[in-house]
Amino acid sequence: MRFKNGFEIHCRLQWAGRVFLVLLLPSVLAKTASKTKMSMKYYDIKACDNVVHYFRILKLDYRMFDGADFIDADCYVGVDVKYLKVMNVLLYRCLGGVGPNHCEYFTRLIWTTSLCELATAKSMLWTPLVDKITPTFRCPYKAGFHQVRNATLDLSSFEKQGFRLPWEKYIWKVHCQVSNELDQIGLCFNGTFEVRRVLVRKDS
Ligand SMILES: *[C@@H]1O[C@H](CO)[C@@H](O)[C@H](O)[C@H]1NC(C)=O
Ligand SMILES: *[C@@H]1O[C@H](CO)[C@@H](O)[C@H](O)[C@H]1NC(C)=O
Repeated sequence: MRFKNGFEIHCRLQWAGRVFLVLLLPSVLAKTASKTKMSMKYYDIKACDNVVHYFRILKLDYRMFDGADFIDADCYVGVDVKYLKVMNVLLYRCLGGVGPNHCEYFTRLIWTTSLCELATAKSMLWTPLVDKITPTFRCPYKAGFHQVRNATLDLSSFEKQGFRLPWEKYIWKVHCQVSNELDQIGLCFNGTFEVRRVLVRKDS
């Protein structure tokens, strides 16, 4: 599938079998304005400890605004990036707690096409995070320190692209890994989050 903006988003999902989903760009579906907002609560974001990677979190704070959490972080990425090659996301869902007995593997998402463009595209899941990075994120990218202020994820956009997961039923654990053209992992973290759906006025 190809859209006006000229790039494709392929995301591989594995539930029972293997399904290939082609995500629609939000612009295509902009008409379906929702009356609820998904607000995020974050817990326990940590750099990975199970692979060799170049991502360090130096400082991490949460602030609350309007019932939702926003993230302030200082990070160091120790590799240059000519282009982003793969983004791998593992999702685990947890019921009644987040211990090993409470969580089960849920799905894996893989993005491999035009990731540099996707990273900075508007109305993506990660737009309200990428937009808050200083210095501004773009490819090619130079290794160095980065600040993220007042950042979050936009699950509403994600839903509009077809990811209607049972967000409110579980606590979620996510493992996210992004590698560059040399397969060096420049971003790798585990996070735990919860989602609340809050009503907003239709015209806001
Ligand atoms: C943080 O982000 C929220 C949502 O984008 C915004 O409404 C709020 O004004 C921001 N706060 C600051 C201090 O920038
Ligand atoms: C992060 O998640 C990965 C993959 O699920 C796991 O192997 C690793 O032990 C986790 N590390 C931390 C610090 O939670």
